[in-house]
Amino acid sequence: MKISKVRAVWFSATGTTEKVVLAVAGTLAERLGVPLERFCFNLPAAREEELVLGPEELAVVGVPVYAGRVPNLLLPYLRDKVKGRDAPAVALCLFGNRDYDDGLMELRNTLRDNGFRVIGAGAFVGEHAFSRTLGAGRPDGKDLALAETLAGSVADKVKSLTEISPEPVAVKGCEPVRPYYTPRDRHGNPINILKVKPVTDAEKCLGCGLCARICPMGSIEAAEVGRVTGVCIKCCACVKRCPAGAKYFDDPGYLYHQHELEEVYARRVDSEIFL
Ligand SMILES: Cc1cc2nc3c(=O)[nH]c(=O)nc-3n(C[C@H](O)[C@H](O)[C@H](O)COP(=O)(O)O)c2cc1C
Ligand code: SF4
Ligand code: SF4
Repeated sequence: MKISKVRAVWFSATGTTEKVVLAVAGTLAERLGVPLERFCFNLPAAREEELVLGPEELAVVGVPVYAGRVPNLLLPYLRDKVKGRDAPAVALCLFGNRDYDDGLMELRNTLRDNGFRVIGAGAFVGEHAFSRTLGAGRPDGKDLALAETLAGSVADKVKSLTEISPEPVAVKGCEPVRPYYTPRDRHGNPINILKVKPVTDAEKCLGCGLCARICPMGSIEAAEVGRVTGVCIKCCACVKRCPAGAKYFDDPGYLYHQHELEEVYARRVDSEIFL
């Protein structure tokens, strides 16, 4: 089949999903000898427009896994505005070394339902947004080598196929997808971090405004960055990208969950690909 362009499409608040998406998409563009076009939908303005891909455009779509699923506040964008007119696609999810549960299944199904032909998929490990130790250094060389393997196989598939089956590639996960993963305290009670927001150390803050510009929810007041007036998805873009280390979470439930993740899920989990 003829491919005239590779389109990399991703959300990545702390940059790990982006690394994997660009590794896969870059290798694909090279192997197929076609241009690569990049589209990051981190910011609210980027999610306003429809994105429609035609049959000669190969999509590489990646999102992080939040609570074992596609981040719930990104789902309306993916479901309502990202359309494939029989465009072939690679579905990628990035998870923080705990588990991707049904995140890849949900992404694959969303793409399938929107007219994409999902011919390859992968679940990759990256440093967990909440932590500097969990999945630290991931995706690493081994993960990126696997991303290249995936891209090489997808390129071969695309070259050899004359028609693509509407049946998407098989991936791990449950159908229908399970409820969102719920963190629990030491007594087994659910920890609710939905309303938790980061705080700002005014002594450290340089007033550069970066956090307000990069918040994917547009929730940080530009004129007063200590004020988070909108919804917070705990993506940690402001925490990890603040040049002064001035943003942090101090909520006890959040911190308990962070430390528990770091202790219980410290083992290495391998990334996986599906063809
Ligand atoms: C709210 C939230 C929930 C998360 N839930 C999970 C999870 O269920 N399993 C997991 O392994 N990682 C989980 N992570 C980690 C992310 O999948 C991933 O490490 C991180 O967000 C990196 O993506 P990015 O660098 O592209 O932003 C979660 C992260 C956030 C912010
Ligand atoms: S990114 Fe950090 S230093 Fe810059 S305004 Fe935000 S909190 Fe202050
Ligand atoms: S305020 Fe919340 S949603 Fe916005 S960048 Fe910070 S962690 Fe992410």
